[in-house]
Amino acid sequence: MIVAVYPGSFDPVTLGHTDIIQRAARVFDQVIVALLENPNKKPLFTRQERLSMLSEATRELPNVSVESFRGLLVDYLRSRGVKVVVKGLRAVSDFEFELQQALTNRRLDPEIETFFMMSDSAHAFLSSSLIKEIVRFGGSVHDFVPHGVEEQLKRRLIEIGADAFGETISG
Ligand code: PNS
Repeated sequence: MIVAVYPGSFDPVTLGHTDIIQRAARVFDQVIVALLENPNKKPLFTRQERLSMLSEATRELPNVSVESFRGLLVDYLRSRGVKVVVKGLRAVSDFEFELQQALTNRRLDPEIETFFMMSDSAHAFLSSSLIKEIVRFGGSVHDFVPHGVEEQLKRRLIEIGADAFGETISG
């Protein structure tokens, strides 16, 4: 039985993420979507909000579960007894940073293997930060995020005010 971890910030989850999750769930026996709780980043959504958006978006996939972790990915993998990481690659521009992370993780724990899946061309341009920017300037992201996420983005924009929202665009 091969379990894979798909790590990320998911602030918020996009259709690019869910595409990778769905395809990984067909390849691996079990997929754990692991949300990084990063104290150095100021996410737009809380850990709990991001977890519930991810759970909702993956609710029809029986072999997918959603968790959060702190600290190093390799330590989290060890705590779960998992040796496989799945990542999505959108464009050449992703490659350098992903290579750096994969090599670092393998140096930290030689048993870890990182598998890369090419993003679907329909989602190759998507990023959580771009989506936040589109909503911040009044555009529609209906085609880019799972059901319900656009509404949550708009609600948060109103809650914290457009200016403050602008400052939190990152990730
Ligand atoms: O969605 P993101 O922000 O691109 O995801 C990045 C993530 C969470 C996969 C990456 O930052 C990560 O694995 N962080 C955990 C900390 C860690 O292990 N760092 C050292 C190895 S890269």
